[in-house]
Amino acid sequence: MRLQRIDHVGYAVEDLEEAIAYHQRLYGATVTHREESDRDGVREALLAVGDSYLQLLEPTRDDSPVARFLTRHGPGLHHVGYGVADVAATLADLQDMGVRVVDDTPRHGSRGCLVAFLHPKSAMGVLVELVEDPSRAGNGTAT
Ligand code: CO
Repeated sequence: MRLQRIDHVGYAVEDLEEAIAYHQRLYGATVTHREESDRDGVREALLAVGDSYLQLLEPTRDDSPVARFLTRHGPGLHHVGYGVADVAATLADLQDMGVRVVDDTPRHGSRGCLVAFLHPKSAMGVLVELVEDPSRAGNGTAT
């Protein structure tokens, strides 16, 4: 099995602080990481849920993919991140199997992870992100 875990579930939100407050109020969730990406045009907060995260994404400019998603669909589920041991190898194998991808080479994501997105048309209608987290190297086993 290539997938090690559900790394995170990504939500597109209109207002990051409001979305954080919502999760704090309902579930007692706390923010474990914040980051802003100029490349992707998003500001994000990660809320730890066990070994996984909820990732709340607010666009920082009108032409960012998350802004376009919000215009088209409104707030909601944006993508699912699958934890893998090796993004480059997984991506290459999937492309060999004919899977359509958004990123044909891995790139840097948040938390220092290496990531690549698969196209929803090739991923059961869901935008899928492959995530290699260097802080979980060694397949999640204690070191
Ligand atoms: Co993500």
